[in-house]
Amino acid sequence: MRVLLFTGKGGVGKTTTAAATAARAAAQGRKTLVLSTDPAHSLGDALGVELTGEPVEIADGLVAMQVDAQRAFERSWHDVQDYLRSVLERAGVDALQAEELTVLPGAEEVLALLELRKQAGSGRYDLIVVDCAPTGETLRLLALPEALGWYVEKVFPAHRRAMRVVRPLLSRVAAVPEDGVFEAVERLHAELSEVRALLTAPSTSVRLVLTPEAVVIAEARRTLTSLALYGYRVDGLVANRVVPLSDDPWMAGWVTAQRAQLDSIRVDAAPLPVLESPYAPGEPVGLEALLSFADVLYGSADPTEVTCTEELLQVARDSDGFLLSLALPLARIEDLELARSGDDLVVTLGGHRRLLSLPAALRRCSVAGARLVEDRLVVRFEPDPAQWRAHV
Ligand SMILES: Nc1ncnc2c1ncn2[C@@H]1O[C@H](COP(=O)(O)OP(=O)(O)OP(=O)(O)O)[C@@H](O)[C@H]1O
Ligand SMILES: [Mg+2]
Repeated sequence: MRVLLFTGKGGVGKTTTAAATAARAAAQGRKTLVLSTDPAHSLGDALGVELTGEPVEIADGLVAMQVDAQRAFERSWHDVQDYLRSVLERAGVDALQAEELTVLPGAEEVLALLELRKQAGSGRYDLIVVDCAPTGETLRLLALPEALGWYVEKVFPAHRRAMRVVRPLLSRVAAVPEDGVFEAVERLHAELSEVRALLTAPSTSVRLVLTPEAVVIAEARRTLTSLALYGYRVDGLVANRVVPLSDDPWMAGWVTAQRAQLDSIRVDAAPLPVLESPYAPGEPVGLEALLSFADVLYGSADPTEVTCTEELLQVARDSDGFLLSLALPLARIEDLELARSGDDLVVTLGGHRRLLSLPAALRRCSVAGARLVEDRLVVRFEPDPAQWRAHV
């Protein structure tokens, strides 16, 4: 099963492109689900149908749904989230760990991820197209499974043990969580691990939608880097609302300005393709308009083809130790921070942070250096007897 996620800055055409891609794949005979994680109900608007929280077939082989964020889960997640925060505050957890919690997003995003897992597990679809919220929220959404996983593995067990001892004392003075909260977090962790596996599988990729404007393109560049940081594969860009050639001086001005932006993003994104979609004379709403949108965008290409096979994270061995490399397109060395925290390598870049759990062999090494080589961060690890003792 293939999964395609569409993201990009607000208003650039994510929903339209996602819906058009799904419509085309379904018309080509693939059982397709298009699912929106955006709380705004615009997927239904683009398709010209009313959507609900349940999948509905809107054309042959095309099913659509809008994740319903108002379900009961929302409440219970807020409880868990508030609890986790208060625990960290009271426990005086170090700054790095406490900060990790701030990436925990709201209920809608968690719910959307869990719904995606459920639908993927149904075995009913060849393709699931996800219409994501604007970039910032999507990144928080995509960082969630790993961030929460880290928390549950590292902080939670110790806290749970401590709770067993202090609960009888604490319960006299403060509200303490019941075991149910721990179970809920552990269950959520297991489910989100499955989501993470689904989202980072080779058959899953992200398409970045943009319009050829300087501000939008600047954000798209940063998003390319951030998505790679979190371990997500981007397989193409969609430049939407490209102004067609014209003799009109006002339009011609836009054409020139957009061309310059398109040329620059093509260079930066290479070897990823940048597909183009023209500024239509009206809103592409309804199946027919979406199918024409997809025809122009993809031409004769198959929109579901897997084109990107690069390993985002690699570990290689050489005579001095190991080289861990992480794809980070367009990253600048001055924006990067690296730290070692126990068995994790902490990579921070422009407000985004990933805690990479090191493979066993690397835990016994210390970091001997790091540099950026052709869009990859390469970190050298050398065996360190002091670390061996720590791991016996
Ligand atoms: N190529 C195009 N030509 C003309 N109108 C377009 C084109 N692409 C999208 N639109 C229109 O632009 C508006 C925004 O598009 P869309 O809802 O797909 O963007 P979005 O990125 O999903 O926005 P949001 O960030 O709010 O979710 C819609 O009214 C849509 O019909
Ligand atoms: Mg949208």
